Amino acid sequence: MKKNIKKGLLLLLFIAIIYGLFRIIDIAYGSYAFVERQPYMVMQTDSSITIKWQSPEEEIGEVNYGLSNEAKNETVSDIKATDKHSITISNLGECTKYFYLVKSPSMKIDNEERSFTTLCQKAESQKLWLIGDSGKKGEKQTKVYQEMLKHIGDDLNNLNMWILLGDNAYTSGTQKEYNEGLFEPYKALAQKFVPWAIIGNHDARRWAFYNIFDFPTDAESGGVPSGYEEFYSIDNGNLHLVMLDSETVNRKSDGEMAIWLREDLKANTKPWVIVAFHTPPYTDGGHKSDNDYDSGGRLKEMRETFIPIFDEFGVDLVVSGHSHDYERSKLLVNHTGKSDTFDAKKHVLQESATCYTKPLKATKNSGTIYQVCGSSSKLDHAELKHPAMPFSFEIMGSLIIDITPTTLSSKFLTIEGKIADEFTIKKDSSACTEKKQ
Ligand SMILES: [Fe+2]
Repeated sequence: MKKNIKKGLLLLLFIAIIYGLFRIIDIAYGSYAFVERQPYMVMQTDSSITIKWQSPEEEIGEVNYGLSNEAKNETVSDIKATDKHSITISNLGECTKYFYLVKSPSMKIDNEERSFTTLCQKAESQKLWLIGDSGKKGEKQTKVYQEMLKHIGDDLNNLNMWILLGDNAYTSGTQKEYNEGLFEPYKALAQKFVPWAIIGNHDARRWAFYNIFDFPTDAESGGVPSGYEEFYSIDNGNLHLVMLDSETVNRKSDGEMAIWLREDLKANTKPWVIVAFHTPPYTDGGHKSDNDYDSGGRLKEMRETFIPIFDEFGVDLVVSGHSHDYERSKLLVNHTGKSDTFDAKKHVLQESATCYTKPLKATKNSGTIYQVCGSSSKLDHAELKHPAMPFSFEIMGSLIIDITPTTLSSKFLTIEGKIADEFTIKKDSSACTEKKQ
């Protein structure tokens, strides 16, 4: 009897090892395997942009661009024949819309509606679309996307930035999955907007993410040079957007990312600061921030290391994904513990459900709102009882954020096209008149 149990266990172990090996080989292959990919954009700056695509043959490709759809008279070409094209267009005007088309002899390129706008520091108002854990292709992903389009009047000219909060391609963030989970379903967006994507754990399981995307290391898009693609910032209009990697880099307070973040936030002059990273500091959804071991301890580390920095520099909004739900806090300060240490009297600065005020200049301990939006293609059953996150729903959707010089408003737009949660932060010293909760 004992012998049989031993044999059975050995067999199970053997199967597990074979399965593990097979998975690693499959993932490695999938991460480096070549896929044909339509042109998309990276590295948007005040004066340049980079167009990337992958063609079946090694060849010289070119980008034609200009200030109108009819006059794409300028041309930039590959320097040598390649199947992984990356063409940077430089010396562009700030805050200027350009139209472009791509030529690559061995593939049919969808060129109908290609355009981009360089970063626009003088922009008075901006609309951002944020999706989290969006990389599972299918009807639900499409519906969440379509509701955003409806919300902006089916006119992408009404949108300014597209931000992905990680887990952008399931299950493993391989090259093929990136086509199926991101570039194909969001094709119309990818023709006009840079997918400013942060890495999630599903992307981090593989090796494709930092090959697919190029990110600023030398403050090309704003902020302080980080020296790493994993963390950087973007200045656009009234927004200073900070992108962090909660998955693959040192998350300790003496690590490069935390050291850089302090420098970057210290140097910021924009009125609004949003920080984005995948693994949320507070969540009671599919992932639990009260569990020190959840996600390899990354929720705990992001909370303990980075919340003191957000407090120190008065970061306005922190957005994450990872839990496949929606969760949102009030204006919080100084809470780095688990939920049983959360004391609303100490940690909630303003009790309103919908309106908050902050000083115009970034000020220490002026409060931060935390949002989790990880339900843009997936939904988990969840408790959603974290006391710091009272506005929480088991609903699919995405975030629409509107920014003016003195207001930031964020809406959770559901898969049914309803606004399930909405709040505004004001920095114009006008009082909130909404009924207090
Ligand atoms: Fe995740």
